[in-house]
Parts: sequence; C-alpha cells; structure tokens
Amino acid sequence: MRKIKIPDTMTVAVLNSYSGADALSIEQRPVPTPGRNEVLVKVAYAPINPSDLATLTGYYGFKNPTPIVPGGEGAGEVVSAGPGVMARYFLGKKVACTGWGKGGGVWSEYVVKSVKGGVLTLNKSLSLEQGAMSIINPLTACAFIDISKKGGHKAILLTTAASSLGQKVNRLGRNEGIQIVNVVRRDAQVDLLKAQGADIVLNSNEAGFDQQLHDACHQTNTRLAFDAVAGPLTNQLLKAMPQNSKVTVFSALSRQAVQASPDLLIFENKMIDNFWLGPWISKQNLLKTMMLWKRAQKQIPNHLKSEIRKIYPIQEVKEAIRDYTSQMTGGKVLLRLS
Ligand SMILES: NC(=O)c1ccc[n+]([C@@H]2O[C@H](COP(=O)([O-])OP(=O)(O)OC[C@H]3O[C@@H](n4cnc5c(N)ncnc54)[C@H](OP(=O)(O)O)[C@@H]3O)[C@@H](O)[C@H]2O)c1
Repeated sequence: MRKIKIPDTMTVAVLNSYSGADALSIEQRPVPTPGRNEVLVKVAYAPINPSDLATLTGYYGFKNPTPIVPGGEGAGEVVSAGPGVMARYFLGKKVACTGWGKGGGVWSEYVVKSVKGGVLTLNKSLSLEQGAMSIINPLTACAFIDISKKGGHKAILLTTAASSLGQKVNRLGRNEGIQIVNVVRRDAQVDLLKAQGADIVLNSNEAGFDQQLHDACHQTNTRLAFDAVAGPLTNQLLKAMPQNSKVTVFSALSRQAVQASPDLLIFENKMIDNFWLGPWISKQNLLKTMMLWKRAQKQIPNHLKSEIRKIYPIQEVKEAIRDYTSQMTGGKVLLRLS
C-alpha cells in the first residue's frame, strides 16, 4: 500500500454561530490522531445538503455548542488507523462517512471516524464524488421504497419530487412498480420529472392544484405521502388523500409548523408521522443495514446516481452555499476538501 504523508495541519470550515453561511470561517487546525477502533479519513468531497443548510441556522436535529464543523456526509480515503484489527482493515480503503457521532462534520480536510458505523467501504468502481453522496439520499430513497412495500402501497405521494432524493425515489419506484404522485413547486420541475418518465407531476403553485391532487390520489389509491415541505402543504396532502391515509414528514423546507385539520385526523382517521434516516437505520438489524448498503452501492451508477452541478474548493464554501441555495434543483453542489 502506498504511504501517504499526513501533514500537521489541515483546512477546516468552522461554523461560529447558528446564524447561517455568513458565520462560517476557514481555519487551519491540527490533524487529529485516530484512537482505538478509529481511522483518519482524508476527505475528498462532501455535498451541500438541505440538512447542512438547516445545521447552519440551528434548525437541524443536532445542535452542539458552536464552534462546530458542519458537513453531514462525504467520502475519501483512510490514510491512517488507530489500534485495533478493524481499524487496520480499513487502511487504504475508499470510504463514505457521515458527520454524525464522534469526529463531527466532514467539511474538513481530515476527519477521525469510528470503524463501528462511522465509515462505510465504497465499491472500488465508484467515484469519490458519487461516494460522497452515497449515504443520506440513496439510503433514504431505499428506505422510502422499503416502507412503501412493507405497507402494501402500490402508489405513494412525494413532495419536493424534483430534488435529488425525489429523482432517486422516482427511478426506484418505477423499477419496483410503485406509482409516484409527484408534487413540485415550479413548472420547470414538472418538465424535468416528465422528461425522466414520471407520469403524474403536479405543481403546488398552480390554480386547481388541490383538486388535481385529490383526483390523482383517489385514482391511484395513494394513502402514503412523504412530505419534505411541512406548513400548510401537509394539510393539503392529508385533505387530498382517501380516508385512513398517512403523511410521513421527513423535512420542513418551508420552515413552518406542520398544519393538520383536526377533522381529517379524527373523522377520516388520517395520520402524521415522521422519518429520520439515522434512527430508522438504528432500528434495522446489522444484516439488513449491510444488505441495504450493498444494494445502494450497486444502484448508485444508475437509479441512485446524483447529478453534480458544480464543485467548489472548501475555501469557497460561502460562494458554494450561495450558488446551491439560489436553485437547489438541477444537481448537487460539492465541496472539494483535498
Ligand atoms: N429525514 C431524513 O432523514 C432525510 C434524508 C434525506 C433527505 N431529506 C430531505 O429531503 C429533501 C430533499 O433533499 P435533497 O438533498 O434531495 O434536496 P436537493 O436536491 O437539494 O433539492 C431540494 C429541493 O427542494 C425544493 N425546495 C426547497 N425549498 C422548498 C420549499 N419551501 N417548498 C417546496 N420545495 C422546496 C427545491 O426546489 P427549488 O429548486 O425550487 O429551490 C429542490 O427541488 C430535503 O428536505 C432533505 O432535508 C431528509
């Protein structure tokens, strides 16, 4: 195995307060040393995901005291290993890692991660760019299809359907024979999904949306919705679906509280629950998790591929975030760490 020289210091993006991208700074920090059952990953790429934007404003599920290093997922190479057989096993391997748990976020040139769930081996054929986006959205897309199949759903509703995740769910759904009632917010997103083969794509900002959604849900017997917007849209989904339906809220891009009319909950037995990938994975057994990872890895070159719009060096993280937030549809913006 080739020997990689590890420098003393590294470049890191640091969030100094939960007040958005302006609170980010680029700093030099000592390269950490991996302890027992830990590895040092030289991070190559990390995407900017909606969960990262939420983190920057303190809107995400983890809120450690600042300063923190953001970055929910990324990929790179294991360049050094702490004591332990498992850690040595990872040495020289291409891995994906999350920003969850010990070691913190991955918007950092080097990061220490535990070998017990902190790093996942990537298929050799996979690029580090695709590897960097191989955990959060691919596993969530697989989870949505699993949940739908388990519940016996032949059709599901999906909001923010033109997102990177939405496109993956559409491709997987088509492959598995699950019809998707897609909800987007712009005409260009309708065109994008239709060009990719989606049958039903509705624009929530178009006149007559509520009736169109009602008709689509009743014609397809759609009783399960995955909603990333929240606010009043959640109630529109609940209202449009037949009795005994459920909306699973998995994000709140509107940054508004979920709305639900009590009569829909009480008299039509409609429900709202939630999905968060981390806890969902924790509930699966190890074998299922490993099979899920293997299945996702296999599908990343096709159904689970992520489009890339632009790659920025970490030093330009603020510009990268501005670019990404100006239009989130149309490919991921990646940060290059090394
Ligand atoms: N709960 C979980 O475990 C989990 C896991 C994975 C993903 N997610 C969530 O899944 C969603 C999609 O993620 P992604 O990485 O695929 O996103 P992405 O590719 O960056 O795309 C985001 C999409 O959301 C749309 N959008 C943004 N704000 C919106 C709003 N207020 N109302 C309606 N649409 C809005 C964007 O449309 P424009 O182009 O018009 O801005 C874009 O189509 C995110 O909310 C993310 O947090 C949750």
